[in-house]
Order: sequence, then C-alpha cells, then structure tokens
Amino acid sequence: MSFFRIQGSKNLSGGIRISGSKNSSLALMVGAALGEEDVVLTNFPQDLDAVVLAEILRAVGVKVEEQAPGRVLINGSGLRPAPIPYELARKIRGSFYIAGLMLARLKEAEIPLPGGCFLGPRPVDFHIKGFQALGAEVSIEHGLMKARMGTGTENRFFINRSSVGTTINLMYLASLTPGVFVLENAAKEPEIVDLAVLLNSMGARIRGAGTEVIRIHGMKKLKGSEHAIIPDRIEAGTYMMAIAATGGDAVLENVMPDHLRTPIMKLRETGTVVEVGETSIRVVAKEPLQSTDLETAPYPGFPTDLQQPFGVLMSIANGTGIIRETVFDNRFRYLDELTRMGADVKVDRDRAIIKGVPVLSGAPVETTDLRAGAALVIAGLAAEGVTLVSGVEVIDRGYEKIVEKLQGVGAEIERLHTTEDCKEVI
Ligand code: UD1
Repeated sequence: MSFFRIQGSKNLSGGIRISGSKNSSLALMVGAALGEEDVVLTNFPQDLDAVVLAEILRAVGVKVEEQAPGRVLINGSGLRPAPIPYELARKIRGSFYIAGLMLARLKEAEIPLPGGCFLGPRPVDFHIKGFQALGAEVSIEHGLMKARMGTGTENRFFINRSSVGTTINLMYLASLTPGVFVLENAAKEPEIVDLAVLLNSMGARIRGAGTEVIRIHGMKKLKGSEHAIIPDRIEAGTYMMAIAATGGDAVLENVMPDHLRTPIMKLRETGTVVEVGETSIRVVAKEPLQSTDLETAPYPGFPTDLQQPFGVLMSIANGTGIIRETVFDNRFRYLDELTRMGADVKVDRDRAIIKGVPVLSGAPVETTDLRAGAALVIAGLAAEGVTLVSGVEVIDRGYEKIVEKLQGVGAEIERLHTTEDCKEVI
C-alpha cells in the first residue's frame, strides 16, 4: 500500500500539462481493435486503468504496443475468443467493452460480469438489452455473460437513461452489424464523440455522436488509422478545483475548455476567476470562496466525476452549499473522511449539505474510490498541517503522474511506501 504525505497551505502556481483522457483511452483502445490493421493512438495517458485494459486485450489476442511515451499501437487482427480472467475484469468496468468488441468481430462473446464497486451496484442491463436489440441471444451463467449473434436485428434502441458505457458498446457492435441502427437517448459525453471520430477515420459511418440520436451504418470491415486522444476534462477539472482550493494562480495547458463549460460556470459562482484560452485555462483563486449549490447530470451537465473535488471546495467556502448526486449512489463516502479533517457535512440520501468552515486540518484519511481519492488530495493541499492519504493506488488508476504534476506547481506532496515513513501523522 502506498501513501501520499501532503503538507498543506501552499498556494499552487505555475503550469500543469493535462494528459489524454483516461475514459477516452479505454473506449478507443477497444474501438481500435474493431479493425484488423494497425491503429495508432497518440496523446495516450499513462494510467493504471489503461495498463489493465491492455492486459485484457492481449489475453484475447489483440496486439497492444507502446511505441513511445503517449503513443500506442493497437492491432486487432489476432482477436480470438479466449477467456478473460475475472481477476482482471473486476478491476475495471471498461473490461465490459470487450463484450461489444467480440460480438462485433467474432459474433460471440463470453465475458465476466463486472460486478459492483465503491460507487454501489453498477449493472450492465442496458448494454445487454442493446446487444439483444442488435440481434444477440444473451444468457447469464456462473457470473458470465454469454452472447451469440442471431439473425433478427431491430433497427433502433432507446437507452433507458443516459449511459456512457452502453452507448460505447452499442457503437462498437452496430459498426460491424449489417444495416442501419439508430441509438436513441445516447450519451453525449466528449469521449463518445472522440470514439466516433476514431471509428469514422477507420471507415465506419457514424453520424450524430454528441447528440441524443446516433445513426450507425454497419460496415463489413474497418481499416487502420492514427488518432490523437482528447485531453482529460476530469483531470483538468480536478486541478482547477485544487488551484481554487489552495488560493492559487495557475494555468492548465493542453485542455479543451468547451468540454468544461459547466465546471467553469460553477467555479466562477464560487468567486474564482477562470480565464479561458484556446487550449488553456488560467484559474485565479479569490478568497474567501463562496458556497453554491450543485446537481450532477450527464454531459453537458456537471460531471459526477467532479462532484467530489467540488465538495472539498464547498467545505471551505463561505456559507452552505447543497450538492445533489443524480448519477451514482454511494458517491458521498469521501465526506466521512472530510469530516475527520473538520468539515461540517450532513448527508440526506442523494443530497449533501455542506457548511463551509474557515480551514480544514490535516489528518490521516483513506481513499474509497478514484475521484474520492483526488478530492482528499485537494483537501490535504488546502488543509493546515500534514495529511496522509492512504490507498493511493486507486488514484493512479486515473491520474497520470499526479505527484510530479502537483510538485511542479509548488505543492508539498510525496509518495511513501511504508507506514514507517509517516509515523508523525498516524
Ligand atoms: C462512465 C465513466 C465514469 C463516469 C460515468 C458517468 C468510463 C470508464 N467511466 O462510467 O467515469 O462517472 O460514465 O459519466 O468511461 N446504468 C444502469 N445499467 C446499465 C448501465 C448503466 O443502470 O446497463 C446506470 C449506472 O449505474 C449509473 C448510470 O446508469 O447510475 C450511468 O452510468 P454510465 O454512464 O453507464 O457509466 P459508466 O459508463 O459505467
């Protein structure tokens, strides 16, 4: 187990380069294997989720080769119906994308169900109904989803509620299924558009990505391509909150500000100054922060993945803010840890009522999930004294070089590997 030791109360200043999008990289790695020729993905982030997904892809015969830092070659010609070890599949939910890939290419799939996680149960019922609409016969046996393509295909499917993963899996399958398929109530996240741009460059015909209705013409084969992954809007949003929480003044480079319109609007409501360039965002904190209310929603609403970092801002803002989480259950567990640092919080089902306190005090805290971990790092940076964040491997799943990037803007943060190194705070 590793830890981050953070000495708080340091204003962040300077510049941070944002990596390629983690969520996009997962969707695009699998999408690239729909073809049987080389696909090169650039601006590829170095985080642990991508490493795990690469291992899963190799287990089913896909070539994944890091040609240089940030440049990954995928070749799906060797795809075969090999079993995926549950130990790998359960680590990342993106493993279920292999279901769409295998059904599209091999017309059959046998994939472990991803199971729950710290965000509560994360079912795949929409994915399965969508596969069935596209002609798959599906059964669930011994924790596995077994599916085989039949003949009858419906030509449209309405997803019950906006779901990123379902939209991605159905885009894969429809791209290689004969006929025209219309996906209604599709997710509109930028990562969906990124996937459509990649697949279209490989010869797919996908129209409407980024809107609620996506129309997909099934093709016989897809070809090779080269594509740059979009910047990570969640990583960028996390650092924006960190700068605001520490009274800092810093610039994020390699971002697409259009993907962050709602978080920027919310941050401005706290009194923080946000200056938007073409591919950069400057954040200038203004103290004291002002409280505001927030509700998470599918894109272009406020992302659930930034709810926890924003909750930290509210915990040190002037007044009381109410946060409503509408996308996932169980995304308030970080608030228990924040309370240990002095935050004043009440949770009532999907609402958190956060009354700002003048300052948080450093304490040993434990990460519960990826974004909660990032939120606790922000809390540690803003707090007085030393914070020790444990279980930080989960943060490495989605944040490339977080320690180095924060050190680069003046944070006092280091990675420790034994409790011996951090006796002072245990
Ligand atoms: C993706 C992102 C995650 C982000 C989330 C919402 C990746 C790897 N992960 O997760 O970071 O927080 O989008 O923006 O890209 N649901 C069902 N049945 C299903 C599928 C989903 O009930 O078959 C529910 C989920 O439990 C959740 C909601 O629909 O409440 C949205 O989930 P979804 O958009 O599918 O999230 P993921 O794709 O898993």
